[in-house]
Amino acid sequence: MEESERRKGSNIILALDPASERTETLLPNSLEILEKTHPFICALKMNHHLVLPLDLFDGVKTIVDKAHALGLPVLMDCKINDIGNTNRVIAENYFKAGFDAVTANPFVGWEEGLQPVFDAARKTAKGVILLVYMSHKAAWEGYGQTVYEPQTGRTKQQYVVFAEKALAWQADGVVVGATYPEKIKEVHTILREKVPIYAPGIGAQGGAVEAAVSSGARYLIVGRTIIEADKPDISAKRIRDLASKSLKRA
Ligand code: XMP
Repeated sequence: MEESERRKGSNIILALDPASERTETLLPNSLEILEKTHPFICALKMNHHLVLPLDLFDGVKTIVDKAHALGLPVLMDCKINDIGNTNRVIAENYFKAGFDAVTANPFVGWEEGLQPVFDAARKTAKGVILLVYMSHKAAWEGYGQTVYEPQTGRTKQQYVVFAEKALAWQADGVVVGATYPEKIKEVHTILREKVPIYAPGIGAQGGAVEAAVSSGARYLIVGRTIIEADKPDISAKRIRDLASKSLKRA
């Protein structure tokens, strides 16, 4: 990610999440958006919008291969969230299809939870990015709870515990919603430069580029604001330029 960010001069990750459309047009339209926007982004993120209707080792792999050919790492936002044995199979399949990293939910814990995902990632030099505070309105109901930590006997915010786990588990990144810049700031104080913060929620969900970047977000994940624009390339460039300016000021 760092290498791509430097080479492309961008910290924007495109969330390629097309609205439901005919399966026949999904692949060509997705490739067209990628073709138009690739000069302005540093990575591609895919989600179930494409992975469910397109075959993982056919249509999805075609997009992954195209992104790689354009010099972009590809992240799978699958939010792994099951028992370890199942989690390992999910991660291995995405890695086999060419994805460079997966997202995972720390709520399931380490032993027989996410440990097998980290093991599978380490074996193949792939990444694991943990959810720490999600971008949507109800994120406080889970990630914002005050919890009792049995090891220390102290109460903490759930997202603080998850940020600390990201450090202990040596995660390759964490997700904190751009819609909560104050949470980005708090998590950044815990992680410093050791674990980068990925911030989704720019634009369509109300998050602002400048606030996210100045609070410590390293990468900005943007979907609808780019792909639903009349000109996705112009929108991607505008957000890239705004982020670059904000980074310089931060
Ligand atoms: P939009 O269209 O809102 O798309 O720009 C955002 C993309 O990011 C995903 N997303 C998240 N992924 N933790 C994640 O791991 C989050 O808190 C989060 N919030 C949004 C969303 O699914 C879409 O692909």
